[in-house]
Amino acid sequence: MNTLPDFPWDKLEPYKERARAHPDGVVDLSIGTPVDPVPPAVREALTAASDSPGYPMTHGTRRLREAAAGWLRRRHEVTVDQRDVLPLIGSKEFVAWLPTYLGAKRVVLPELAYPTYDVGARLAGASTLASDGLLALGPERPDLVWINSPGNPTGRVLPAEHLRKVVAWARERGTVVASDECYIELGWEERPVSILHPDVCGGSHEGLLAVHSLSKRSNLAGYRAGFVTGDPALVKRLLEVRKHAGMIMPAPVQAAMAAALADDGHADEQRELYAARRARLRPALEAAGWRIDHSTAGLYFWASNGEKSWDQVGKLADIGILVAPGEFYGAAGGQHVRIAVTATDERVDAAVRRLQ
Ligand SMILES: Cc1ncc(COP(=O)(O)O)c(C=O)c1O
Repeated sequence: MNTLPDFPWDKLEPYKERARAHPDGVVDLSIGTPVDPVPPAVREALTAASDSPGYPMTHGTRRLREAAAGWLRRRHEVTVDQRDVLPLIGSKEFVAWLPTYLGAKRVVLPELAYPTYDVGARLAGASTLASDGLLALGPERPDLVWINSPGNPTGRVLPAEHLRKVVAWARERGTVVASDECYIELGWEERPVSILHPDVCGGSHEGLLAVHSLSKRSNLAGYRAGFVTGDPALVKRLLEVRKHAGMIMPAPVQAAMAAALADDGHADEQRELYAARRARLRPALEAAGWRIDHSTAGLYFWASNGEKSWDQVGKLADIGILVAPGEFYGAAGGQHVRIAVTATDERVDAAVRRLQ
């Protein structure tokens, strides 16, 4: 097994101390963790299923799988059979283990990326290549390509045309495409499209996996709730391994997730909260000399004032605002910071005042 990287967040600690010293407290915009309540109907479903003495199914209840398929059809024009839905204990564990499940030896990741794609490749003993342009790969035949749209950290949306090219490229080589779509409901200036949309995949899910998370859509990061769907043969293989390995979503969480996927009202309300926070924070950042790149979707501003990323982190820490340095996400992020909009209205307003 390749060695794992140092946990990068430890490097942020001194800046956290600096930001905490602000008389009105820290505004922590460094991590994209939800702060708003879990929707009442979801909590009720969890409670109602709390008497669950028996082992749940790794494949999940039919109700859960149908709720996931229904949500994809309703909101994203994607049709999957409920049998091809596989619950995840949050999407992070799947991102970390997919290369191992596939026996992958060579994995392609986005140039600026959620660090767990790299961790997953290391756990599998696979080598990685960070590249957004597949042409640069020449005749290579990687086992797995990760894409992430809308992307963390940049908030960039990959257009359907680009996704179509990725699918065609991968199918020619027998490469699996895993599309991390955990921010798909959070398009602002652009509408994200799933890899499983018929306009992208031509109606066949062969070689494709779409990974979804309830963490951001339904404030369920604490419940650990996600699912993967796509190529029936691949999902079947993944189900087999996960059965053997005991990767089972708890039954009360299955019930809660089914309730969350069946309801769009709470997700629309949550979207509005994030839209309003973005609308307050963005002009304040721009007026203070920060340029925002990409960021047309998702939960982050990919921002720069032209300095090195750690200097930018320091500058914001001095006014009590904690953000993540772009270099956490790849060498190309050395002149950016990632600013999350997952703070309460009160903390976002505090950040806006401090930027004036
Ligand atoms: C791109 C991306 N993928 C996956 C995850 C993991 O989400 P979860 O494990 O909460 O489903 C995150 C979390 O922030 C993320 O940013």
